[in-house]
Amino acid sequence: MPAPSDFKIIAIDGGAATGKSSTSRGLADKLDLMHVDTGAHYRTLTYAMLKVGASPESDNISELLGALSLDTTLEGRSARLSINNEVPADSAIRSPEVNANVSKFAAIETVRQKLFNYQRSLAEVAQSANYTGLVMEGRDIGSIIFPDADHRFFLHADEATRAARRANEGQTDSIAARDQMDKTRKTAPLVCPEGATQVDTAPFTLEEVIEKIAKLILNP
Ligand code: DC
Repeated sequence: MPAPSDFKIIAIDGGAATGKSSTSRGLADKLDLMHVDTGAHYRTLTYAMLKVGASPESDNISELLGALSLDTTLEGRSARLSINNEVPADSAIRSPEVNANVSKFAAIETVRQKLFNYQRSLAEVAQSANYTGLVMEGRDIGSIIFPDADHRFFLHADEATRAARRANEGQTDSIAARDQMDKTRKTAPLVCPEGATQVDTAPFTLEEVIEKIAKLILNP
Protein backbone atom coordinates (compact mmCIF):
# COMPACT_ATOMS: atom_id res chain seq x y z
CA MET A 1 0.00 0.00 0.00
CA PRO A 2 1.44 3.48 -0.84
CA ALA A 3 2.49 5.51 2.23
CA PRO A 4 -0.26 8.03 3.08
CA SER A 5 2.16 10.93 2.38
CA ASP A 6 2.80 9.65 -1.17
CA PHE A 7 -0.89 9.18 -1.94
CA LYS A 8 -2.25 12.05 -4.06
CA ILE A 9 -5.83 13.23 -4.46
CA ILE A 10 -6.67 15.16 -7.63
CA ALA A 11 -10.01 16.94 -7.91
CA ILE A 12 -11.40 17.80 -11.36
CA ASP A 13 -14.55 19.94 -11.44
CA GLY A 14 -16.48 21.65 -14.22
CA GLY A 15 -19.80 21.89 -16.01
CA ALA A 16 -21.33 19.30 -18.33
CA ALA A 17 -19.27 18.36 -21.41
CA THR A 18 -16.24 20.41 -20.40
CA GLY A 19 -14.05 17.32 -20.88
CA LYS A 20 -13.88 16.14 -17.24
CA SER A 21 -14.41 12.45 -17.91
CA SER A 22 -12.00 11.92 -20.80
CA THR A 23 -9.39 14.09 -19.11
CA SER A 24 -9.74 12.31 -15.75
CA ARG A 25 -9.56 8.87 -17.33
CA GLY A 26 -6.52 9.89 -19.38
CA LEU A 27 -4.79 11.28 -16.28
CA ALA A 28 -5.57 8.12 -14.33
CA ASP A 29 -3.91 6.02 -17.07
CA LYS A 30 -0.91 8.31 -17.33
CA LEU A 31 -0.25 8.67 -13.60
CA ASP A 32 -1.48 5.27 -12.33
CA LEU A 33 -4.42 6.65 -10.35
CA MET A 34 -7.81 5.20 -9.50
CA HIS A 35 -10.57 7.08 -11.34
CA VAL A 36 -13.97 8.07 -9.97
CA ASP A 37 -16.74 9.76 -11.95
CA THR A 38 -19.13 11.22 -9.36
CA GLY A 39 -21.53 12.35 -12.10
CA ALA A 40 -22.05 8.61 -12.66
CA HIS A 41 -22.91 8.31 -8.94
CA TYR A 42 -25.70 10.87 -9.25
CA ARG A 43 -26.83 9.23 -12.49
CA THR A 44 -26.84 5.73 -10.94
CA LEU A 45 -28.80 7.01 -7.95
CA THR A 46 -31.25 8.80 -10.27
CA TYR A 47 -31.66 5.60 -12.28
CA ALA A 48 -32.35 3.60 -9.08
CA MET A 49 -34.89 6.17 -7.86
CA LEU A 50 -36.72 6.33 -11.21
CA LYS A 51 -36.77 2.54 -11.25
CA VAL A 52 -38.79 2.44 -8.02
CA GLY A 53 -41.18 5.04 -9.44
CA ALA A 54 -39.80 8.06 -7.52
CA SER A 55 -39.55 11.55 -8.97
CA PRO A 56 -37.50 14.50 -7.60
CA GLU A 57 -40.79 15.83 -6.19
CA SER A 58 -41.70 12.63 -4.28
CA ASP A 59 -42.25 13.23 -0.57
CA ASN A 60 -40.71 9.92 0.54
CA ILE A 61 -37.23 10.45 -0.94
CA SER A 62 -35.41 9.93 2.41
CA GLU A 63 -37.23 6.67 3.03
CA LEU A 64 -36.46 5.42 -0.50
CA LEU A 65 -32.80 6.44 -0.15
CA GLY A 66 -32.61 4.42 3.07
CA ALA A 67 -33.40 1.27 1.10
CA LEU A 68 -30.45 1.77 -1.28
CA SER A 69 -27.21 0.10 -0.30
CA LEU A 70 -24.04 1.51 -1.90
CA ASP A 71 -20.96 -0.47 -2.81
CA THR A 72 -18.01 -0.31 -5.22
CA THR A 73 -16.95 -2.43 -8.17
CA LEU A 74 -13.60 -1.84 -9.85
CA GLU A 75 -13.72 -1.86 -13.67
CA GLY A 76 -10.10 -1.55 -14.72
CA ARG A 77 -8.92 1.53 -12.83
CA SER A 78 -12.40 3.09 -12.60
CA ALA A 79 -14.41 2.61 -9.41
CA ARG A 80 -18.10 2.16 -10.23
CA LEU A 81 -20.95 2.63 -7.78
CA SER A 82 -23.27 -0.34 -7.35
CA ILE A 83 -26.69 0.15 -5.80
CA ASN A 84 -28.30 -2.91 -4.26
CA ASN A 85 -25.66 -4.98 -6.07
CA GLU A 86 -26.46 -3.53 -9.52
CA VAL A 87 -24.06 -1.50 -11.67
CA PRO A 88 -26.43 -0.24 -14.39
CA ALA A 89 -25.09 -0.12 -17.96
CA ASP A 90 -23.66 3.18 -19.17
CA SER A 91 -26.50 3.50 -21.68
CA ALA A 92 -29.02 3.23 -18.81
CA ILE A 93 -27.46 6.02 -16.72
CA ARG A 94 -27.04 8.28 -19.76
CA SER A 95 -30.58 7.90 -21.09
CA PRO A 96 -32.67 11.01 -21.92
CA GLU A 97 -34.82 10.24 -18.84
CA VAL A 98 -31.83 10.25 -16.50
CA ASN A 99 -30.39 13.34 -18.24
CA ALA A 100 -33.67 15.15 -17.62
CA ASN A 101 -33.85 14.27 -13.89
CA VAL A 102 -30.29 13.97 -12.60
CA SER A 103 -29.71 17.65 -11.75
CA LYS A 104 -33.04 17.76 -9.90
CA PHE A 105 -32.13 14.74 -7.75
CA ALA A 106 -28.60 16.13 -7.28
CA ALA A 107 -30.06 19.34 -5.81
CA ILE A 108 -31.74 17.43 -2.96
CA GLU A 109 -29.76 17.66 0.28
CA THR A 110 -30.49 14.10 1.48
CA VAL A 111 -29.31 12.74 -1.89
CA ARG A 112 -25.98 14.58 -1.52
CA GLN A 113 -25.65 13.44 2.11
CA LYS A 114 -26.14 9.85 1.00
CA LEU A 115 -23.14 10.16 -1.36
CA PHE A 116 -20.81 12.35 0.76
CA ASN A 117 -19.26 9.71 3.06
CA TYR A 118 -19.29 7.13 0.28
CA GLN A 119 -17.31 9.43 -2.04
CA ARG A 120 -14.77 10.34 0.66
CA SER A 121 -14.30 6.65 1.51
CA LEU A 122 -13.08 5.97 -2.04
CA ALA A 123 -9.64 7.33 -1.10
CA GLU A 124 -9.20 4.27 1.15
CA VAL A 125 -10.49 1.97 -1.60
CA ALA A 126 -7.80 3.38 -3.92
CA GLN A 127 -5.08 2.94 -1.29
CA SER A 128 -6.15 -0.64 -0.55
CA ALA A 129 -6.00 -1.38 -4.28
CA ASN A 130 -2.40 -0.03 -4.27
CA TYR A 131 -3.00 3.01 -6.46
CA THR A 132 -0.62 5.94 -5.93
CA GLY A 133 -3.57 8.29 -5.90
CA LEU A 134 -7.12 9.08 -6.84
CA VAL A 135 -8.55 11.34 -9.54
CA MET A 136 -12.16 12.24 -8.79
CA GLU A 137 -14.31 14.30 -11.16
CA GLY A 138 -17.56 16.13 -10.52
CA ARG A 139 -19.06 19.45 -9.51
CA ASP A 140 -18.10 19.78 -5.82
CA ILE A 141 -14.96 17.66 -5.46
CA GLY A 142 -12.49 20.49 -4.80
CA SER A 143 -15.02 22.52 -2.81
CA ILE A 144 -16.89 19.97 -0.62
CA ILE A 145 -15.74 16.35 -0.99
CA PHE A 146 -11.96 16.88 -0.95
CA PRO A 147 -11.30 20.58 -0.21
CA ASP A 148 -7.95 19.26 1.08
CA ALA A 149 -7.05 17.62 -2.29
CA ASP A 150 -3.40 17.86 -3.36
CA HIS A 151 -4.38 19.33 -6.76
CA ARG A 152 -7.62 20.97 -7.83
CA PHE A 153 -8.58 21.84 -11.41
CA PHE A 154 -11.67 23.52 -12.85
CA LEU A 155 -12.37 22.77 -16.52
CA HIS A 156 -14.44 24.98 -18.79
CA ALA A 157 -15.23 25.38 -22.49
CA ASP A 158 -17.53 27.57 -24.56
CA GLU A 159 -21.10 26.41 -25.10
CA ALA A 160 -20.80 25.62 -28.84
CA THR A 161 -17.82 23.31 -28.21
CA ARG A 162 -19.68 21.54 -25.41
CA ALA A 163 -22.86 21.05 -27.47
CA ALA A 164 -20.76 19.65 -30.35
CA ARG A 165 -19.07 17.17 -27.97
CA ARG A 166 -22.41 15.82 -26.72
CA ALA A 167 -23.76 15.61 -30.29
CA ASN A 168 -20.65 13.60 -31.27
CA GLU A 169 -21.43 11.20 -28.42
CA GLY A 170 -24.95 10.83 -29.84
CA GLN A 171 -26.52 12.16 -26.62
CA THR A 172 -29.64 14.27 -26.07
CA ASP A 173 -28.72 16.62 -23.24
CA SER A 174 -29.67 20.18 -22.26
CA ILE A 175 -26.24 21.22 -21.06
CA ALA A 176 -27.06 24.88 -20.40
CA ALA A 177 -30.21 24.02 -18.41
CA ARG A 178 -28.35 21.44 -16.30
CA ASP A 179 -25.48 23.83 -15.63
CA GLN A 180 -27.92 26.53 -14.58
CA MET A 181 -29.55 24.13 -12.09
CA ASP A 182 -26.18 22.88 -10.84
CA LYS A 183 -24.85 26.43 -10.34
CA THR A 184 -27.89 27.84 -8.59
CA ARG A 185 -28.85 25.03 -6.21
CA LYS A 186 -28.51 25.73 -2.47
CA THR A 187 -26.43 22.67 -1.54
CA ALA A 188 -22.94 22.28 -2.99
CA PRO A 189 -23.47 24.42 -6.11
CA LEU A 190 -21.10 24.13 -9.05
CA VAL A 191 -18.36 26.68 -8.36
CA CYS A 192 -14.73 27.03 -9.25
CA PRO A 193 -13.11 26.13 -5.91
CA GLU A 194 -10.92 28.89 -4.46
CA GLY A 195 -7.32 28.28 -5.45
CA ALA A 196 -8.19 25.76 -8.20
CA THR A 197 -6.37 26.01 -11.54
CA GLN A 198 -8.78 26.90 -14.35
CA VAL A 199 -8.28 25.11 -17.67
CA ASP A 200 -10.07 26.11 -20.88
CA THR A 201 -10.34 22.81 -22.78
CA ALA A 202 -11.92 24.22 -25.99
CA PRO A 203 -8.75 25.24 -27.89
CA PHE A 204 -6.86 22.01 -27.13
CA THR A 205 -7.00 18.34 -28.05
CA LEU A 206 -7.71 15.85 -25.29
CA GLU A 207 -4.05 14.72 -25.32
CA GLU A 208 -2.89 18.32 -24.92
CA VAL A 209 -5.20 18.91 -21.94
CA ILE A 210 -4.03 15.69 -20.25
CA GLU A 211 -0.39 16.61 -20.86
CA LYS A 212 -0.89 20.14 -19.52
CA ILE A 213 -2.57 18.94 -16.30
CA ALA A 214 -0.13 16.05 -15.79
CA LYS A 215 2.77 18.54 -16.01
CA LEU A 216 1.16 20.78 -13.42
CA ILE A 217 0.71 17.79 -11.09
CA LEU A 218 4.24 16.46 -11.55
CA ASN A 219 5.95 19.89 -11.42
CA PRO A 220 3.71 22.03 -9.22
O1 DC B 1 -20.86 14.84 -14.91
P1 DC B 1 -22.30 14.50 -15.35
O2 DC B 1 -22.79 15.42 -16.42
O3 DC B 1 -22.44 13.07 -15.69
O4 DC B 1 -23.17 14.77 -14.02
C1 DC B 1 -24.55 14.54 -13.99
C2 DC B 1 -25.22 15.46 -12.99
O5 DC B 1 -24.85 15.07 -11.67
C3 DC B 1 -24.89 16.93 -13.08
O6 DC B 1 -25.82 17.64 -13.87
C4 DC B 1 -24.95 17.42 -11.67
C5 DC B 1 -24.74 16.20 -10.82
N1 DC B 1 -23.46 16.16 -10.13
C6 DC B 1 -23.36 16.82 -8.94
O7 DC B 1 -24.31 17.49 -8.54
N2 DC B 1 -22.22 16.73 -8.21
C7 DC B 1 -21.18 16.02 -8.65
N3 DC B 1 -20.07 15.95 -7.90
C8 DC B 1 -21.25 15.36 -9.90
C9 DC B 1 -22.40 15.46 -10.64
